[in-house]
Amino acid sequence: MKRIVRGLLATVALLLLMQVIRFERTNPPTTGLVHAPADVEKVLRRACFDCHSNETAWPWYTGVAPASWLVHRDVVEGRRHLNFSAWGQLPAEKRAKKQKEVGEEVRDGEMPPWFYLPLHPDAKLSDADRALLEAWAGGAASD
Ligand code: HEC
Repeated sequence: MKRIVRGLLATVALLLLMQVIRFERTNPPTTGLVHAPADVEKVLRRACFDCHSNETAWPWYTGVAPASWLVHRDVVEGRRHLNFSAWGQLPAEKRAKKQKEVGEEVRDGEMPPWFYLPLHPDAKLSDADRALLEAWAGGAASD
């Protein structure tokens, strides 16, 4: 019994200690919103913006370690690879390339990541959503 109590106390102490490592939950200003038809933008906002924009929703658990560490990593990496809020900053050929990649990731079912969906069921893409994004991605080059 004593052992269990000691184990629990150690776990609680470790969890508390983990809270010391904090990250800022930022949403920098939008500098160039993605140019896409309204229905495409709607799907992107629903399924991708948490990690690929400066309009991340930061629910309470994103402030609690270790969830905060994982979410922070996803947002930093996600924005670094593809940021729909800074889309307009990219040269045209880069935008075309990213747009094509959106189609590939969606077609392969890689994005949104599987681990994101249980807590964000709204982000699940229907066949129609996927077809819409792929059609948009296939038309890359314009904007
Ligand atoms: C939970 C966070 C998260 C969500 C939601 C998410 N992504 Fe990602 N995405 C990432 C991360 C992190 C990377 C970079 C590293 C990797 O591939 O795991 C990435 C990479 C990408 C890339 C590759 C970009 C490059 O330059 O290599 C594309 C394209 C992409 N995502 C598109 C999407 C689209 C489209 C959606 C919505 C349908 C989406 N993502 C939703 C986290 C996310």
